[in-house]
Amino acid sequence: MTQPTRPPTAQPTLADLIDFRLNRRGLIKGAAAAVTISPFSAVAQENGPSSLTFRELAHTLDERQHVAEGYDMQVVIRWGDPVLADAPAFDPDNLTAAAQEKQFGYNNDYLGLYPLPYGGRGGDRFLLVANHEYVNPQLMFAGLKSEHEKIRAQADVEMAAVGGSVVEIVREGGTWKVVPDSKFNRRLSVNTPMEVSGPAAGHDLLKTSADPDGRKVLGTLNNCAGGSTPWGTWLTCEENFNAFFGGDTAKLDPKVVKRYGLGHSAYGWERHAERFDMGKEPNESNRFGWVVEIDPYEPGTPPVKRTALGRVKHEGCTYALAKDGRVVLYTGDDERFEYVYRFVTARPWNPTDRAANRNLLDEGTLSVARFDADGKVEWLPLVHGQGPLTAENGFASQADILIKTRLAASLLKPTPMDRPEDIETNPVNGRVYVVLTNNSRRKPDEVDKANPRARNEHGHILEIAPKDGDHGSSEGTWSIFLLAGRPGHDAGARYHRATSEQGWLSCPDNIAFDSKGRIWIVTDGAPEAAGVADGVYGADTMGHGRALTRCFYQAPTAAEVCGPIFTPDDRTFFLAVQHPGEGSTFDKPSTRWPDFKDGMPPRPAVVAITKKSGGTIGS
Ligand code: FEO
Ligand code: CA
Ligand code: CA
Repeated sequence: MTQPTRPPTAQPTLADLIDFRLNRRGLIKGAAAAVTISPFSAVAQENGPSSLTFRELAHTLDERQHVAEGYDMQVVIRWGDPVLADAPAFDPDNLTAAAQEKQFGYNNDYLGLYPLPYGGRGGDRFLLVANHEYVNPQLMFAGLKSEHEKIRAQADVEMAAVGGSVVEIVREGGTWKVVPDSKFNRRLSVNTPMEVSGPAAGHDLLKTSADPDGRKVLGTLNNCAGGSTPWGTWLTCEENFNAFFGGDTAKLDPKVVKRYGLGHSAYGWERHAERFDMGKEPNESNRFGWVVEIDPYEPGTPPVKRTALGRVKHEGCTYALAKDGRVVLYTGDDERFEYVYRFVTARPWNPTDRAANRNLLDEGTLSVARFDADGKVEWLPLVHGQGPLTAENGFASQADILIKTRLAASLLKPTPMDRPEDIETNPVNGRVYVVLTNNSRRKPDEVDKANPRARNEHGHILEIAPKDGDHGSSEGTWSIFLLAGRPGHDAGARYHRATSEQGWLSCPDNIAFDSKGRIWIVTDGAPEAAGVADGVYGADTMGHGRALTRCFYQAPTAAEVCGPIFTPDDRTFFLAVQHPGEGSTFDKPSTRWPDFKDGMPPRPAVVAITKKSGGTIGS
């Protein structure tokens, strides 16, 4: 796993500290200053000062995937492949909900690796978990022209295709295989019974006619990125849940409707299942937008929606440890001008008694980030009764704050960001990287130091250093790691100055760190924003190759790349390739990746990248 399992101990080098301070000064003096004070000299070799030795790919845009020379790619599992032992073979001409509930779902996003047995390093055997974020109906069903034509049986297939999957995988002879009859293999969908816990459980706003107690929910929706916990559970994040609800919003709080974007159903499920019709079940949508904890080692236990972490459009949720052992979870709310959050557990985690951590995420403090112009970041607590978070301002309890997190957070005046996607902690230098994918709607009079570009089409990445290296501290410092876009063409684009014509990127989304602390950035939206395929870019985070991004992988037509994660030995790099061919149809797909067989539509899939020589990825 890429997440740290203990507080980072490695010290930055002297060159790295100088580099960090130079970047800080560059931040204050402006982007141009950061380039002119760069200490780096001319590039001496193809990879320049980067520690990454692969030969870069040129930017492409075609129907196939590409990886740097010297690496192999293998499809581990695709949409429709069996997850449960009794799953039928995939038949794209005869999709059924019953089959889909046993097969790998659509649009894989987050990937997690959990070693087998529990507590080991999992050299060759893991549980692989995958989120299934949403569906592309026109690529799933032949002849479907619009959502209005969709029939109940098709909606049922879609409901079975979202959620998540757990499969046991094993490495044999250098190849990763799914273990077909593993007792751990599991599908989760929007029909899977789940529990609600934490301060908002049982609140009136979570009660429905099917669940008058407000504590049992069917399913999870729009599971985008995620994370894990130190005790080996999977956190799956409900992002754009609003797109799955339709109907009349008159019975909902109009402020919630507006701020969470409710009222525009993308899939028409409300015509087939009453609970997705807000006119009939006004509270059902309140039961989505949460972080859900799942134990992949215990397939019989229900997933739990952890309300203490707030209700927003969670991109992901990744952990670091405070110096006192409390667990700090970073999470971004992915929408233009929304915020960056963190949650700190009330108690330290217990490394010797797994069961003692079972409900650790139900108590703690949720905070929202303010990025100041002087380079300070402060975490502002969302606690009932503190500051403006009172009944007079519309928040009668902590549950109110958690159900309407966006509205409560705004009262604390945090920094509106350029779409917070993944937020992850570098296991080597202990800094936190905040990925901001883009925000074309930011106006010139709305820029700030942390979101410095108007009409930010290409996104950027911030780097946070917690005060005294302690993730539990209420403050830290921040700087800009890179500003994406094509240098020389896109205003303000800024990387290491040796970044090549192949190495620039657009629309960063998820990230992973290898065990050397290098960042691997995957993109979502580069075809539209920059006319190049979405892909994977690696860079050093410290030393002379810092922020020198290099293009490693490119996705097939219209696919974004998600879920980057390394095996602990850095010898396999897993990626989730999501929505290949999006925007085209089953009958005329823009790619048939990965099968390239007549009649077979494109299939979202998990890809394993290995080095032909069997070494570690990147070097
Ligand atoms: Fe589902 Fe924020 O990407
Ligand atoms: Ca994402
Ligand atoms: Ca995205």
